Amino acid sequence: MSYDTIIVGLGAAGCTAAATLCKAGKKVLGLEAMNRVGGRVNTVPFSNGVIELGAEWMHGQENSRIYDLAIQNNISVLPQELSFDVYRSDGSISNNETLNDLVTFALGVVEDPPEVPEPLGQYITRRMLEYIKTNHPELESDQDYITEVLHFMDLVINNYESSNSWNDVSTQSRYDELGGHQHMSWHKNGYRTLFEILLNTYNNGPGFPTLDLQLNKEVTSISWPQDPAEDVVVTCKDGSTYRAKNVIVTVSLGVLKERHEKLFTPPLPEDKKTAIEKMSIGVVGKVALQFPERFWQKGFWTTFLWKGEDRQKISENETWITTFNGVSPPMGCDNVLTFWGVGDAAKLVETLPEDVVKRKVMELLRKFMGKDRTIPEPIGILRSTWYSNPFTRGSYSYDNVLTPQYPTARATLASPLLDKSGTPRVLFAGEATDNTHFSTVHGATDTGFREANRLLPQAKL
Ligand SMILES: Cc1cc2nc3c(=O)[nH]c(=O)nc-3n(C[C@H](O)[C@H](O)[C@H](O)COP(=O)(O)OP(=O)(O)OC[C@H]3O[C@@H](n4cnc5c(N)ncnc54)[C@H](O)[C@@H]3O)c2cc1C
Ligand SMILES: *[C@@H]1O[C@H](CO)[C@@H](O)[C@H](O)[C@H]1NC(C)=O
Ligand SMILES: *[C@@H]1O[C@H](CO)[C@@H](O)[C@H](O)[C@H]1NC(C)=O
Ligand SMILES: *[C@@H]1O[C@H](CO)[C@@H](O)[C@H](O)[C@H]1NC(C)=O
Repeated sequence: MSYDTIIVGLGAAGCTAAATLCKAGKKVLGLEAMNRVGGRVNTVPFSNGVIELGAEWMHGQENSRIYDLAIQNNISVLPQELSFDVYRSDGSISNNETLNDLVTFALGVVEDPPEVPEPLGQYITRRMLEYIKTNHPELESDQDYITEVLHFMDLVINNYESSNSWNDVSTQSRYDELGGHQHMSWHKNGYRTLFEILLNTYNNGPGFPTLDLQLNKEVTSISWPQDPAEDVVVTCKDGSTYRAKNVIVTVSLGVLKERHEKLFTPPLPEDKKTAIEKMSIGVVGKVALQFPERFWQKGFWTTFLWKGEDRQKISENETWITTFNGVSPPMGCDNVLTFWGVGDAAKLVETLPEDVVKRKVMELLRKFMGKDRTIPEPIGILRSTWYSNPFTRGSYSYDNVLTPQYPTARATLASPLLDKSGTPRVLFAGEATDNTHFSTVHGATDTGFREANRLLPQAKL
């Protein structure tokens, strides 16, 4: 049996491509290596509701295919407020308005890049020190505070970018924010609802009759022809092979980095290999703890700001703990706090025994928030494994310091492989292939739509 299109990977990009092609009457086979659809969106039951181990919010509401789908289906989505308290490592409470002003300034500076690109951390540091001098001269007598705010900002940027250091990120980025609220939550409904809508199964929908969707199907080889008369042949780890006119590959940049050489026959062209090598994907990870009751201010985030002398007391093998810059209350359930980790530390946390992670994050929580209260032991723990997962190998891509040197890398990654007649046979979608909305779910869905439409030239974009 032969399909029109095989889609490798059923995350946001793959599911959008599948839906778009099926609506146009195409016969589609979706092959997904994991035992679920959603990819880097993973809603799991926890406490009295759900938590998101992957994507948490819809960033923006305007021109967002995913926000529109939620609204059209009458699904309630809610803005999450980012009000926060600031605790220092000696248990004292710090002024949240001062930190808010500095963070807001730093994030604003990102929108005002220098003419000559440079590492983002270096640039923000320079601008922040000038800003403090003119707007917060009272802070200049507390150099330790300034140093720690810069450490904190490094983590904030890494959380945004999924970088390991803010100096791995370039001031030159094409990333473009959608208008509207930046933190729209699916709360108790879960982000996974998006995939039910995309695949037409929401509210007992019938799905798509021309979609053959198979889970636990790890694709190991994609063989694409030069001859217009021949099929693309896709082979899975279980030995099964499938044929189609074309294939849309939606695996992450991390997966491409690790296995593009084995995956494609013949090998990818040099320019695409270079793009894959020079682009970056990093790690943002989460550890979620469930408590018997809430002991924090309802709806508030807590921000951890170290003091230099406390930071120095942390032994070398435990410095990963200092990269959790705070906790947030997820909107999908009660009595839960999520710790956000980044970079090499987040990779390490994935490998540590669960009891060690639990003990150390509880020490952290009690150090910062436990001075004037007794924090109970958690009754549940869940954590993400986006780096160890062989089918993601990271969280999302960012514009690294090589971006100015390789300005077309994302476009090169997105360009299809053509046969002798110039017909696209292997197409590339996924978050990393979007020039301006990479690293997001809305961007990933746009790329799925883009590539499906490449195969439907008569369709409207
Ligand atoms: C912790 C975290 C927080 C995030 N927060 C947000 C957020 O708040 N808002 C936001 O917009 N975005 C967020 N993101 C990013 C967002 O989740 C991704 O950009 C988006 O989901 C990527 O979709 P995709 O379809 O490009 O890739 P994926 O979701 O990775 O889909 C690719 C699919 O391919 C499958 N696959 C891989 N290899 C194979 C193979 N060999 N054979 C078959 N199948 C294979 C994978 O299993 C996967 O299902 C976050 C991500 C993470 C990890
Ligand atoms: C959404 O609600 C409106 C108004 O209540 C209704 O007309 C519409 O049919 C609903 N749409 C869906 C998809 O349920
Ligand atoms: C700072 O804390 C106060 C009191 O808890 C709160 O009302 C305010 O919204 C907070 N500000 C920010 C920026 O989070
Ligand atoms: C770090 O090292 C110290 C001293 O060697 C040891 O007591 C501690 O258990 C180690 N911590 C972790 C998380 O492995």
